[in-house]
Amino acid sequence: MNQEEINEIRSKLNIVDVISSYIPLTKKGRNYFGLCPFHDDHTPSMAVSPEKQIYKCFVCGESGNVFNFVMNYEKISFKDALSRLANSIGINLDIQEKKDNKYDKYYEIMDIANKFYQNNLLSKEGEIARKYLENRKLDKKTIQEFGIGLSLNKMDILTNLLVSQGNSLEELNLIDLSNQNHDTFINRVIFPLHNKDGKVIGFSGRRLDDNQKINKYQNTKETPLFKKRENLFNYHRAKDAIRTEKKIIVMEGFMAVIRAYTVGIKNCIATMGTALSHEQADFIKRLSNNIYLCYDGDEAGRKATLSSGEVFTKMNMNVFVISLSDNLDPDDYIIKYGKDSFQKKIDDALPFNEYKIKILKQNYNFDNIDDKTKYINQVLQEINNEKDIIKQEIMLKTLEKDTNVWYNTLEKKLLELKKDENKGKSEPIVIKKDKKNGFLKAMESLVYYSLNYPKVITTIDNSNVYIPDTNIRLLLNEVIAYYNRYGEISEADFYAYLSNMEKDDLIKELKKVLQNDYPKMENDQINECLLAIKKYNIALEIKKLEKDVKNELDFERQIKLMEEIRTLRTKEGKSW
Ligand code: UTP
Ligand code: MN
Repeated sequence: MNQEEINEIRSKLNIVDVISSYIPLTKKGRNYFGLCPFHDDHTPSMAVSPEKQIYKCFVCGESGNVFNFVMNYEKISFKDALSRLANSIGINLDIQEKKDNKYDKYYEIMDIANKFYQNNLLSKEGEIARKYLENRKLDKKTIQEFGIGLSLNKMDILTNLLVSQGNSLEELNLIDLSNQNHDTFINRVIFPLHNKDGKVIGFSGRRLDDNQKINKYQNTKETPLFKKRENLFNYHRAKDAIRTEKKIIVMEGFMAVIRAYTVGIKNCIATMGTALSHEQADFIKRLSNNIYLCYDGDEAGRKATLSSGEVFTKMNMNVFVISLSDNLDPDDYIIKYGKDSFQKKIDDALPFNEYKIKILKQNYNFDNIDDKTKYINQVLQEINNEKDIIKQEIMLKTLEKDTNVWYNTLEKKLLELKKDENKGKSEPIVIKKDKKNGFLKAMESLVYYSLNYPKVITTIDNSNVYIPDTNIRLLLNEVIAYYNRYGEISEADFYAYLSNMEKDDLIKELKKVLQNDYPKMENDQINECLLAIKKYNIALEIKKLEKDVKNELDFERQIKLMEEIRTLRTKEGKSW
């Protein structure tokens, strides 16, 4: 699908109509306003502009065109949003089919395999497996809902069936239903694994007998359909519950997720025992910003909690930890103590930093001065990371109570930490922070003005200015390329362009850029920005050379470097 066609479809849609079919909008002045569906909004902070055909939330910063809204609201891909919206105005796109064509057949085979496994479970040979599931307190309804099945204790029964239906062994090996031309799964309870659209892409097979010396679970290996780094168990089923609950519970094992589901807690997904990948973290963030980690109550679970918690915290999400007692996993916990007790654990979840402090406390012996000091220093680090100063004070008071070290001493140490941190920050080549922010603004505003006053793009293009920030540079390059190609540009079309090219990182950057407020453009604004950036580049270069001079032992070369610096200084002056 080319960009012209996409723009054409977009121009036929009215963003106000589309968004108001999801959320009520009220007109105020030139724009429409509604409660933002992408964060917990209490006053209407989402503005929809009929002129620009974009939406923007002033609180959470979420923004985009009509396609982005539907993508984000429905949690679907750009292609799906495009074809759905095209459909709504009577244009039938078969791009979805084209895209999946290659895989359509594989998905079909997966479905057949899944049905086959499900039938086995109901057959006479499924007796033992049915008993097994009964023992594990999984009733018929759950077995059906999760599509649980059984691979028989026979070598090639599925492979033969699928080959007799006209599929090649090569294909079956490729999607790992067969392995070296034999059935991949033998004598295991089978759990289908789905992609984000709910299509079966692989399986996990559990041994029926824990005395058997084979892996407890065997999973589909990496295939064109099944990508381990992206897979999250129950993602497709949990979407709606996550939206209504406004939180997502992340577990290690899929049995835990199934158990929670059976007692009506449906906003859970599982990472399936592996360390959290960045892809998985990104997918999780798309569903909710409020993460509840509910890993197993053993040592491995605690470790995984700490590492995943750091990943999500760095992504600016609100992280909470549900800790279960007695080394239990959520499955065992719910069976032993019931739903209400588990629900209470969710309600009592600790914010991640409090959890970390709790774990630290368990690791140190307060009777030992060194241990206690170490503990205090680590907790102070955590307090230093806390952005809310009220919380900081509460945490300091708790620390005083816990350790009997005087509040003022703790506070003094905290200030020292802050100072050290700032020292560490301004040491590298970089310019002072507010100065840097000014330049960042200048770089960002080039993107904003390019999209809103496209005439300036030629000036920017001709200036050959080097944008030191990689993301903004890439973004601006795309803007320039788009404009040079189509002769015009708008925020709304540019969003569609980036989505169509699947440039998710650049979309993220664009949202960030557009989150700022920009004044109306004045005559010389662009040239001023360009000069500011040029000057910034020179200043960076000078800083670097100054550092080189310090490290240079050879006197001749030192002089040469100093000359270079002088030349740059004059240039720097001139560029104003
Ligand atoms: P667990 O060992 O905690 O499994 O592994 P579990 O959920 O408690 O399973 P049951 O209750 O013993 O049946 C957590 C996850 O790690 C993956 C699985 O995805 C499992 O859900 N795993 C575990 C494997 O892939 N292979 C294994 O051999 C074991
Ligand atoms: Mn278990």
